[in-house]
Amino acid sequence: MNTAPPDGIVTLLVEDHRSVEQRMADFVGTAPDSRAEAFWKLTDELVRHEVAEEVILYPALRSLPGGDRLADQRITEESEAEAQLARMEKLDPTSPEFMAEFTDLRAAVLEHAKAEERQVFPLVNEKVSSVRLVDLGERYQKAKHSAPNHPHPHAPDTPPGNKVVGPLAALIDRIRDAANGL
Ligand SMILES: [Fe+2]
Ligand SMILES: [Fe+2]
Repeated sequence: MNTAPPDGIVTLLVEDHRSVEQRMADFVGTAPDSRAEAFWKLTDELVRHEVAEEVILYPALRSLPGGDRLADQRITEESEAEAQLARMEKLDPTSPEFMAEFTDLRAAVLEHAKAEERQVFPLVNEKVSSVRLVDLGERYQKAKHSAPNHPHPHAPDTPPGNKVVGPLAALIDRIRDAANGL
């Protein structure tokens, strides 16, 4: 019988960071023809993580001493990553421009995760009770899976730039709406 206590939110977040890092490392070697699909999977995982953090972790952080400033900095970085994903959505994934953007995105995402692990997570672990950490962890998992998975939207019939809402914006909205309703 497994009697290990359930994981708190920080344990879950760190596991997800390692998973995103691995997916990004694997993406570098992806054949150009397979990049669109692989990048959509990466985007899905990354966006679920960041939106669930915004909805569940960062409000809890704001109630801690010094938490507001840390939350503002990290949420700014998350918004920048979303803007970069939106730019990449308009590029041809087989192009060198796309891979140049990916290199920037990867560096920014790794830096952001490192800042969370150095500054945010230790504070949360220290100041939040273990019961609450487990409760936040359960809510984080629910928020992450609150929106259904969507397969990669293959070959749009109009140029992406002409769309009002691209697949990325739709994904972010879906997850945010569902997570906010928890
Ligand atoms: Fe984050
Ligand atoms: Fe994170």
